[in-house]
Amino acid sequence: MTLAQKIIVVTGAAQGIGAAYARRLVEEGATVVLADRDREGAEATASSLGGPGKAVAYRLDVAERASCQALAAYLTDAYGHVDGLVNNAAIFSTITMKPFWEITDEEWDRLMAVNLRGPWLLVSALLPLLCASASASVVNIGSDAVRLGRTGYLHYVASKGGVHGMTYSMARELGEYGIRVNTLSPGPVYTEVARETVTPAQREAMIAAQALRRPGGPDDLTGTLMFLLGDGSAYLTGQTISVNGGLVHR
Ligand SMILES: NC(=O)c1ccc[n+]([C@@H]2O[C@H](COP(=O)([O-])OP(=O)(O)OC[C@H]3O[C@@H](n4cnc5c(N)ncnc54)[C@H](O)[C@@H]3O)[C@@H](O)[C@H]2O)c1
Repeated sequence: MTLAQKIIVVTGAAQGIGAAYARRLVEEGATVVLADRDREGAEATASSLGGPGKAVAYRLDVAERASCQALAAYLTDAYGHVDGLVNNAAIFSTITMKPFWEITDEEWDRLMAVNLRGPWLLVSALLPLLCASASASVVNIGSDAVRLGRTGYLHYVASKGGVHGMTYSMARELGEYGIRVNTLSPGPVYTEVARETVTPAQREAMIAAQALRRPGGPDDLTGTLMFLLGDGSAYLTGQTISVNGGLVHR
């Protein structure tokens, strides 16, 4: 399962779960490109990470084709291949909960552009670099909010349902190139970032409904991500792996 020497791109790595993915990957010896719309946040996180791997910050808007292509050009010059892509960037912690009939067209379209169009654009742009790797793995970050049918942010739930579906088809289309594609689907995870997408009462109810009765943190996801990116999962593709403390079983 060695990740040392691998070139891994993590989107949305300036904060929250993405920053934890990047931290663990650098600890495992990988070279990690922290690609985020928040350039300063990505730079601050990258400079806070210790070795033995390497962390590089890059300003990316996953919703923009030109920005994804610019990242591809940068990676081509810098490394010539990409071994792992973690499609983690999303509009999430900034969402305001509301009944779905109050979501505006603008909110719907922007969220879909980032959460659903983004992973598609980025995998498409990085395809030659992924093909150039001997063992490429794409991990799309989904959400168990889909399986729970969580309320109050329908555009988000719909976007993540799309990510789950996209993984199945991407895995089939990319299998002949030796590229694996899986979804890591977290349950509720509590980070340093305050958010409105779970009320204190909902949080306590969900923890009580889990098999493991403690809140999940970013480090509860990193081991599964290392597995999905590493060679130990070389025959695993087109799958959705839920990491949720036993909140949902199906
Ligand atoms: N925290 C949870 O409970 C939870 C549960 C299930 C799934 N997830 C998923 O895990 C991932 C990370 O969640 P989080 O809690 O760290 O979220 P977060 O909102 O704290 O972080 C999202 C990151 O994505 C970046 N980003 C937003 N738009 C971008 C764009 N257009 N281009 C590039 N970067 C952009 C932000 O700057 C930020 O760094 C998301 O995909 C989220 O949907 C989170």
